[in-house]
Amino acid sequence: MNAALTPDQRADALIARMTLDEKIALLHGMSDMQGHTGYVPGNSRLGIPPLTFTDGPAGVRPGNGVTTASATALPAPAALAATWDPNLARLYGTVLGKEAFDLGNDVIFAPMVNIARVPQGGRVFETLGEDPYLTSQMGVAVIDGIQAQHVIADVKHYAANNQEDDRCCVSAAVDQRTLHEIYLPAFEAAVRQAHVGTVMAAYNKVNGVYSSENRTLLADILKGQWGFAGWVLSDYGATHSTVAAATNGLDMELPTGLYFSDALKVAVQDGRVRMATLDEHVHRILRTMFAFGLFDRPVRRGTIDRRANGRIARYIAEQGMVLLKNDGSLLPLNDSTLGSIAVIGPKAGRAMTGGGGSSHVIPFYAVSPLTGIINRAGHGVTVTYADGSDVAAAAKLARSSNVAVVVAGDDEYEGADRSSLELPGAQDQLIEAVAAANPHTVVVLNAGGPVLMPWIDRVQGLVQAWYPGEEDGNAVAALLFGDVNPSGKLPITFPRSAGDVPAVTRQQYPGVNGVAQYSEGIFVGYRAYDRRNIAPLFPFGYGLSYTTFRYSNLSVTPGGPSAPDRVTVRLDVTNSGRRAGAEVVQLYLGIPSTAVPEPSRQLKGFHKVYLKPGQTQHVAFALSARDLSYWDTRANGWVVQRGRYQVMVGSSSRDIRLQSSFTVSQANWPRSVTIQTPPRVQPGTIVAAWMHRLARERAVIVR
Ligand code: BGC
Repeated sequence: MNAALTPDQRADALIARMTLDEKIALLHGMSDMQGHTGYVPGNSRLGIPPLTFTDGPAGVRPGNGVTTASATALPAPAALAATWDPNLARLYGTVLGKEAFDLGNDVIFAPMVNIARVPQGGRVFETLGEDPYLTSQMGVAVIDGIQAQHVIADVKHYAANNQEDDRCCVSAAVDQRTLHEIYLPAFEAAVRQAHVGTVMAAYNKVNGVYSSENRTLLADILKGQWGFAGWVLSDYGATHSTVAAATNGLDMELPTGLYFSDALKVAVQDGRVRMATLDEHVHRILRTMFAFGLFDRPVRRGTIDRRANGRIARYIAEQGMVLLKNDGSLLPLNDSTLGSIAVIGPKAGRAMTGGGGSSHVIPFYAVSPLTGIINRAGHGVTVTYADGSDVAAAAKLARSSNVAVVVAGDDEYEGADRSSLELPGAQDQLIEAVAAANPHTVVVLNAGGPVLMPWIDRVQGLVQAWYPGEEDGNAVAALLFGDVNPSGKLPITFPRSAGDVPAVTRQQYPGVNGVAQYSEGIFVGYRAYDRRNIAPLFPFGYGLSYTTFRYSNLSVTPGGPSAPDRVTVRLDVTNSGRRAGAEVVQLYLGIPSTAVPEPSRQLKGFHKVYLKPGQTQHVAFALSARDLSYWDTRANGWVVQRGRYQVMVGSSSRDIRLQSSFTVSQANWPRSVTIQTPPRVQPGTIVAAWMHRLARERAVIVR
């Protein structure tokens, strides 16, 4: 309890006093979870506090299967990713951390940083999209937010956990370059930049070996190359062995101790698992508990401020909604001239507070799209409603209204992938019928990820709202009526047809004989569409606004002698329209394909800028040597190759506004580089900074 010692010293001092049984007790959970998602009992003899765990990435979900407490249902992580705003990701993490703490938890199983490899994946709504850079930036910020509340984050699911079909067992057959460039960067950033406290080992195998006993992933890469100091816990039921798991890097089995209780004790006693190995697992857990103050803090749980956090949920939902189509500037709707609006569809009468499975939060309250629209439209507008089960009746209602809004969507859940990318049920027919009845039809999609849109040419407006969380209807209405200017951008490509997706053969997905071949390699998401010259329905990074933006004055400057491993990219962005709004300025880099095939462009930077009409902002990006690198399998490291690099800046991956290039002569560049560690964030600063910005941008006062 000597707080003057380091967490490592304190852990060692404690381990020296522990019996074998006491050590083992710390390495697995208990079936009685005491109302939490996971529970490791404390040790009163030694003063070790119990460890309590909760799900999950979209809000706090205590309990295991049976949820025992309400919490704020934030927009799904995919919606957060669509904000392209790390400040909001930090705020999102702050809510997760604070509510997890107030509900008595030490660890939260969030964020999820698996790449959305297949758009039909059952947990796409839980991902931060298809791009490793965007996922890394947003994931790091979520972790910073959580951990600034002294709650331990858990980045999951490590690694290459990209489908729900056969999720327990499928083996991702993935080459080392693809692993390092696509599937691992967000985990690496979580460790190196955000100093995440725990990592969850995934259900699936990677290259034939279960993640929870995968030496390459756990011992060599995570703990070796990246220097991870926290502990690895298994996903629920993802442990399959005692000796292999314990010796290859798994520190804790959850939710119970099938392999890491009695069997582990025997394995230590008969020498199959060394005591030093056991001590290392115990050390990692204890040093993290010390580092997060679990031994020192008096437990002062607060109560959840549901109003304040509901406002945050709404703000993030608004910022994450993506305006995909707005022909003839139908939107925003004008409540003084609108007259009448028909609200139609199976998703209109119920808020989409989240997807199914372990991320599902029981919210304090929920606002349906219908309620949100009624409340916002006011007395001057006639709002009518049909759930759409009777298509003819819905079309009739649409015909008699000035504008029709169809709220459609899907129902993603953990444990199974979507059987197709089509909207379930008769929703396509409903949209066709309504659009035929009323030319002023707007579709709002409460969909966790991409869906096919055979009706796209016949609707005038389209908003991708994701699963917006408890404030669904208020956020949708704010967007439709222009209280909020849309600024979300797609974190995932929307394909035009099912055959266009990158992993299209059965060998690739869902796999044959238990193996999914990641044979598309690094060509995942937009990288694949670009390589195969396939025009997506809506590209990665795409999203409209009620205003317009002009890009100008691009300059690309190599760092010079003082910063030889940096390239600075500068430009100006101007709000050239008549409304205040935000633009996500995206920087893509085209690495020369001299040594290995490269995508024509990869996201390497983005800035969300908030601009008044006429206002110009200067935006600067710094490209590091790592940004220019590819993973060289022979060198087993990051390498910058010689050649001409294309710099592309734009409003989406397929709307490049400015271009330039620079040349690298290999001699000037370090062959292998590491990520810089930024300063840690202090508790409290995030919320304060955010409130200040919010107050400036919008006339909203947040407590
Ligand atoms: C999920 C994890 C979750 C855990 C605990 C598993 O089935 O894959 O994401 O954290 O359950 O609920």
